[in-house]
Amino acid sequence: MRKILVTGALGQIGSELTVKLREVYGAENVIASNRRVKEGHEALIEGGPFEIVNINDPKQMAEVVDKYKVNTIINLAAILSAVGEKDPLACWDINMNGLYNVLELGREKNLQVFTPSSIAAFGPTTPPDNTPQDTIQRPTTMYGVTKVAGELLCDYYFKRFGVDTRGVRFPGLISYQTLPGGGTTDYAVHIYYDALKNKKYTSFIAKGTKMDMMYMPDALDAIINLMEADPSKLKHRNAFNITAMSFDPEELAESIRKYIPEFELDYDVDPVRQAIADSWPNSLDDSAAREEWGWNPKYDLDAMTKDMLEKLKVKLNIKG
Ligand code: SER
Repeated sequence: MRKILVTGALGQIGSELTVKLREVYGAENVIASNRRVKEGHEALIEGGPFEIVNINDPKQMAEVVDKYKVNTIINLAAILSAVGEKDPLACWDINMNGLYNVLELGREKNLQVFTPSSIAAFGPTTPPDNTPQDTIQRPTTMYGVTKVAGELLCDYYFKRFGVDTRGVRFPGLISYQTLPGGGTTDYAVHIYYDALKNKKYTSFIAKGTKMDMMYMPDALDAIINLMEADPSKLKHRNAFNITAMSFDPEELAESIRKYIPEFELDYDVDPVRQAIADSWPNSLDDSAAREEWGWNPKYDLDAMTKDMLEKLKVKLNIKG
């Protein structure tokens, strides 16, 4: 039986993944952890074991792993790209030293470890279209540096110590429950809130900037399916390209107009986040994930837009 510790459980991915894992594996087998309690997450905190854990504190981590006899860690505690450029040292400290602590626990206690990488693990010299699984990775953000280094470290722990490390390169993730914590792809979440509230959005990412994206239910399936995948089929491990769609702000606005015809989009481009977006691929080749563990997303852009608008309408209590 799996005993799963989720770090960063109150973040954008963790807040939904924890609930889904509890449905699949049983509430008592999924230990949610976060470095602090955050308002609005009472149901998750009370819905199963919850611990305050700082991934930069290896002793605290080890105590929680021992207390619950954890055999799997899903390490979602991280600083995203835009915040990482504001405080690169904190980004390194949490993303790398935190991961090192997780991997060391994996080695000492024989745990399976999932760590998300990102489209940010690529850079301006990477082929931008249909970006291959194995290609040039010279990112120019601290977040990207920690993602490439993290991929390498996870591969090292697998090859050198036999730790069952697995990971995916997530594109921008879109969800209606918890906001992302300061990334470059966040515009594609904010746009839905403003479309419902104001029928208008001002994008900090420029027209024509394509990035890979994915709706959260597909991201959750990716984590669970890869963790459950037959290891003998995995030629890669850290980390698989995965994507569900690729669009620029205009294409996203067009999709929203199918449901809110009067929606208006204009631009006030943020040079920092635009430079980050320009350094990332336009679209990934995810064939290795499809072949090795059956990756197959369910949501395209219009299916996502329909669901996002329906769910957000209820959440924001918008009538009509
Ligand atoms: N969504 C992330 C970011 O924008 C990419 O991994 O930082």
